[in-house]
Amino acid sequence: MHDGGLHVEGVALTDVATRFGTPCYVYSRAALTMAYAAYRDALQAHGLAERSLICYAVKANSNLAILNLFAELGAGFDIVSGGELARVIAAGGDPGKIVFSGVGKSREEMRAALEAGIHCFNVESASELEHLSEVAGSVGRRAPVSLRVNPDVDPKTHPYISTGLKNAKFGVAFDEAFALYRRAATLPHIAVKGIDCHIGSQLLDPAPAAEAADKVLALVDRLAAAGIALEHIDLGGGMGIQYRTDEPAPAAAEYLAPMLSRLAGRREKLMFEPGRSLVGNAGLLLTRVEVLKPGEEKHFAVVDAAMNDLMRPALYDAWHDIARVGADTTAKGAATAETMSYEIVGPVCESGDFLGHDRLLALNEGDLLAILSAGAYGMAMASNYNSRPRPAEVMVDGSIVHLIRRREDVTQLFVLESTLPREG
Ligand code: LLP
Repeated sequence: MHDGGLHVEGVALTDVATRFGTPCYVYSRAALTMAYAAYRDALQAHGLAERSLICYAVKANSNLAILNLFAELGAGFDIVSGGELARVIAAGGDPGKIVFSGVGKSREEMRAALEAGIHCFNVESASELEHLSEVAGSVGRRAPVSLRVNPDVDPKTHPYISTGLKNAKFGVAFDEAFALYRRAATLPHIAVKGIDCHIGSQLLDPAPAAEAADKVLALVDRLAAAGIALEHIDLGGGMGIQYRTDEPAPAAAEYLAPMLSRLAGRREKLMFEPGRSLVGNAGLLLTRVEVLKPGEEKHFAVVDAAMNDLMRPALYDAWHDIARVGADTTAKGAATAETMSYEIVGPVCESGDFLGHDRLLALNEGDLLAILSAGAYGMAMASNYNSRPRPAEVMVDGSIVHLIRRREDVTQLFVLESTLPREG
């Protein structure tokens, strides 16, 4: 907070609102760069930087400017669709540093990724392995493969974003992985390269990830003893971030240390697939209070952002800190507002359309609010529900603001639709 209200780097959020309107996602280039550096530094501290690759999980935020920034920093990418493959290539990412995850890759997507020359497919089932082998044969290539194993470890996070338990749809069951590796090793169009594991997202305790790493390493050693030597170990993403002031998250060095110390003396290359921890705290959603609606039981502040712009509160009951931007010349009589508990809600016609419950704020209509830590799974999950154009996105770099996605226009929303032909 500077005089004159909240800033991102050297730019006042009031200026961003004036220039680009609201709702608007605002990212900080310096914060993105620092988050990436935290991983690099942690790897360096364990002597692992030279033989590791940080593959940014594109699904967290797939804006081309963000992908391009990470590509420039040397990152690889973890993709889950042909669309994400196309984005990485359009953003100047190196296809040779892409890993392709996901339980349901189509043959089309496999072909596109083989033709682009990606680093590795993270295969999640016996069937997928056979499909990939056929597709690779049909285009005359060998597909580089890791098996994504499911270690049956409880990541202790929200059930919708837990992926490493037995009952999840993800990965090859741990007990079946050895046999599937043997099968993979016999397929002429498959090149066995590595192993992969991702147990869930927003993990705050490093112990489950370390336990999963132990299981993975034991399997790697067992495979080596059977003559299947793997080149790389991919330990997925999942590191949590701080969403609320009273709930601190571990620093990257601290969270990664138990995993890295297990990898330090080994020969395999190491990979990670972080999404949220690279972008989450580097972005916010800027919104304006449209209407204040005092009620008998609750006071509502209706803002111009909604669940379609930031779905996390509605979907996971997720908490995002919300701050008044302040010093906004368009707000009426800021000094007179009384601090009270507000439900911060959007204009969408659903009671699940909220951005925050029970927030103590002194508000006036016209005030700007910043929904914090919204850089990950914010814009990436936004929709056009209620025919609402998706927000603009800007990236702050020092005192400069770059528009990195224009606000959608209402006419764009139905450009692909047509009315029925007239009868008769
Ligand atoms: N690798 C794989 C195979 C994944 O499925 C994911 C996330 C990641 C890496 C990146 O995980 P991260 O480092 O971001 O935790 N929409 C939810 C999160 C869904 C995560 C899906 N998979 C949310 O807003 O919390």
